[in-house]
Amino acid sequence: MVAYPYETHAYDVVVVGAGGAGLRATLGMVERGLKTACITKVFPTRSHTVAAQGGIAASLGNMGPDHWQWHMYDTVKGSDWLGDMDAMEYLAREAPKAVYELDHYGVPFSRTEDGKIYQRPFGGHTTEFGEGPPVQRTCAAADRTGHAILHTLYGQSVKQKAEFYVEYFAIDLLMGPEGDCRGVMAWNLAQGTLHVFTAKMVVLATGGYGRAYFSATSAHTCTGDGNGMVARQGLPLQDMEFVQFHPTGIYGAGCLITEGARGEGGYLTNSEGERFMERYAPTYKDLASRDVVSRCMTLEIREGRGVGKRKDHIHLNLSHLPPETLHERLPGITESARIFAGVDLTREPIPVLPTVHYNMGGISTNMWGEVLNPTAEDPDRVSPGLMAVGEAGVASVHGANRLGSNSLIDLVVFGRAAAIRTAEIVKPGTPNAEIPEEAIDFALGRFDAIRHAKGNVATAELRQEMQQAMQEDAAVFRDSKSLAQGVGRMTQVAAKLDDLKVSDRGLIWNTDLVETLELTNLMPNALATIVAAEARKESRGAHAHEDFPERDDVNWRKHSLAYVNGTEVRMDYRPVHTEPLTPLDQGGIDPKKIAPKARVY
Ligand code: FUM
Repeated sequence: MVAYPYETHAYDVVVVGAGGAGLRATLGMVERGLKTACITKVFPTRSHTVAAQGGIAASLGNMGPDHWQWHMYDTVKGSDWLGDMDAMEYLAREAPKAVYELDHYGVPFSRTEDGKIYQRPFGGHTTEFGEGPPVQRTCAAADRTGHAILHTLYGQSVKQKAEFYVEYFAIDLLMGPEGDCRGVMAWNLAQGTLHVFTAKMVVLATGGYGRAYFSATSAHTCTGDGNGMVARQGLPLQDMEFVQFHPTGIYGAGCLITEGARGEGGYLTNSEGERFMERYAPTYKDLASRDVVSRCMTLEIREGRGVGKRKDHIHLNLSHLPPETLHERLPGITESARIFAGVDLTREPIPVLPTVHYNMGGISTNMWGEVLNPTAEDPDRVSPGLMAVGEAGVASVHGANRLGSNSLIDLVVFGRAAAIRTAEIVKPGTPNAEIPEEAIDFALGRFDAIRHAKGNVATAELRQEMQQAMQEDAAVFRDSKSLAQGVGRMTQVAAKLDDLKVSDRGLIWNTDLVETLELTNLMPNALATIVAAEARKESRGAHAHEDFPERDDVNWRKHSLAYVNGTEVRMDYRPVHTEPLTPLDQGGIDPKKIAPKARVY
């Protein structure tokens, strides 16, 4: 037993993470009278949602006809029929309400001439169940939509008296003997003190794990901390093989150039100046779904039609757009192109490359955000006291591939859903369950062991080994050989966690220790990703397996579950929810419309 003094705090609800989902959950909780703490390792408005550019999807119909059922259909097709129908219906139906709530909270959306929320086209969003032209469904605040939402939600949460613990790093979940979550242990980075937060509900809103890869649009803070905590409790990570590559990361720097750039009329060209997407996706062209565009770009490069000295990237053209469109709608990427690519996009194309952007996989949940601990008899069994929302959670609305602008709407719809559900099951002000000694010992023991790690491998060195293995072996295209090699490589890399060296033993602003704790969270994510990818013998959404190029609904329309224990990963599966929430005769979608079929754009 390691003796560290710690302070104890009791709340009805503790939310870990202050991005869009964490803040929307926090706000919803306090609005419902639940005493809520939000713990975050970065200042709330520095959370990664701040980097979301293009917008938030909702069928408002401000720019032309739209319908929630068309949005649901596009999401189902985008997910390559791996998403859960109940959750996807909930998302599409609730989206307009959630966006108008944001509007009323004060999000400064761009406006149309007549004062409505401005909406732009985004990849994979269509009309008439994929039979009509692209739809303008993505509500935007210029190309800084995440920034606008994050600042507004933080302001509203402060106004409603949510309590923030800023620059507190959550170390581990504190579980009861029945596997129920009772709280979380956290480290105050500035003061060097330790804190036990007890709660009747812990909500993980810790984001994705893009930094398991070498090149990602994600912030360096995107280290899958919640996923790591859940994996350490023996709970599964779901659908981890599905990693989204955004078509337009800036070549070299990896920074995001929003899909809104193509939504506003930008297009991709190869070394022959050809608009090659017309060949691959004749109907929706540059506005096909992201996984499709990323694969087409990769094929062009492979076949020798990449641009640049090494012919290893693609051009994104915007110089034909009116300067006022660039100024009003895309000011952020105009600046990013100049700073990170040295390009004046009013005259030159931007060099771009598919770059890791989003994790469809994460913590298995139902559509209320309740974390699942599935059994064969009950694949939807709830793990009490624990929720996961946002990129950390898998409800599952994105299935095998997420549509652009469906992330911001996921954050607010399911952040809000978590608050609605919590208010139903938690009675404010009632006593919290006691935290067992063993749970505290586990968290403190792990923290102390890492703090005093005296091995031979530096954290940065091991992180780079992991990132390179993932970048090379779990890429846009995968095959049996690269995946088998990746599993071997990643198993060896993960084993080196036992030989880590931490040089700074302090407790105050010890970034060496923070990065090492983050690496211990990234590693189970990376391992689960490569093992789940190796196991899935088909191609679906973002998982493009060259030895199994077809989707196989008979054998593989199922969610994967990865149980990580050290370097071991055990795979299991649970069924996809194929029934929507509302029957056809009560106003639901026609099941024939969402039945699996070939996915072409
Ligand atoms: O391209 C973008 O603006 C990214 C949006 C998203 O990932 O939803």
